[in-house]
Amino acid sequence: MSLQLIHQGKVRDLYRVGPVGDRKLLMVASDRVSAFDVVMKEEIRDKGKVLTAMSEFWFDYLGDRYPTHLISAHPGPEELGHELPSQFVGRSMLVKEAEMLPIECIVRGYLAGSALKEYLATQSVHSQRMPSGLVGGAKFSEPIFTPSTKAATGHDINISFEDAVDLVGRDVALKARELSLAIYSAGAQRAGEAGVILADTKFEFGFIDGELAVCDEILTPDSSRIWEATELGSGGEPTQYDKQPLRDWLESTGWDKLPPPPSLPMAIQESLRNRYIAVYERISGCEFVA
Ligand SMILES: Nc1ncnc2c1ncn2[C@@H]1O[C@H](COP(=O)(O)OP(=O)(O)OP(=O)(O)O)[C@@H](O)[C@H]1O
Ligand SMILES: [Mg+2]
Repeated sequence: MSLQLIHQGKVRDLYRVGPVGDRKLLMVASDRVSAFDVVMKEEIRDKGKVLTAMSEFWFDYLGDRYPTHLISAHPGPEELGHELPSQFVGRSMLVKEAEMLPIECIVRGYLAGSALKEYLATQSVHSQRMPSGLVGGAKFSEPIFTPSTKAATGHDINISFEDAVDLVGRDVALKARELSLAIYSAGAQRAGEAGVILADTKFEFGFIDGELAVCDEILTPDSSRIWEATELGSGGEPTQYDKQPLRDWLESTGWDKLPPPPSLPMAIQESLRNRYIAVYERISGCEFVA
């Protein structure tokens, strides 16, 4: 079999397919879950399949409009030279290998997460001055591009647009911003039609044959904040179809965010699984089949 493991991320395993010159990778999404950049000991049953189905939906939905790395979400012997190993079925994408940008391209439509922390401390978001008086969950007047570093180990750091220019060059940073904002808007519109709010999301771009393409996963509950639309602004926290309830639970334990993490109770695991499946089904209009 011609699959060679070349990289193990927190969630995904990357295998080379065929000779190096073919520049093809099999991206396999595991059921691992990370929070605060630490991988939990427990796996979330079917999570890799849900994320793969979600990314496949979005690549299909957006792929005519934007260049992406996807070759096939159901690769078989024609592409691999052999059957896909059964444990990889439903959680694999055959993709074009890209030269990844060393930044993460975050778009925020609403004030939350690390941006909220920064805002409350300095009234800025990724060093960009913001209007006063915003509260958590506030909608920005328009979505903002807020990049971060892409740390090989440890935590990504929020940076300004000019810091991103220093890392990738002005033309590339401008293109990444343009693509990020356009794809966020298209995704947010679709999410809105399904009754949920795409509060923010993270894209990763890479060069494929000289063109900047969307890589990695796209608009998933692992890479986004997604809220129940009707519940926003009603006082309490809206239902969150993302990792936030897991982060909140972890913080409630007093964990110092260094390995080893606390063991996840079954109720926490199941609620994450159910919320990921629910939002996949809402947005895609398809039933999740494990
Ligand atoms: N087309 C591609 N070519 C080359 N590398 C890719 C491509 N698409 C994604 N990648 C890389 O594959 C890896 C996927 O692994 P994973 O998502 O587990 O990453 P991670 O960075 O450890 O975790 P996180 O996404 O939580 O930061 C990432 O390093 C990503 O940049
Ligand atoms: Mg990733």
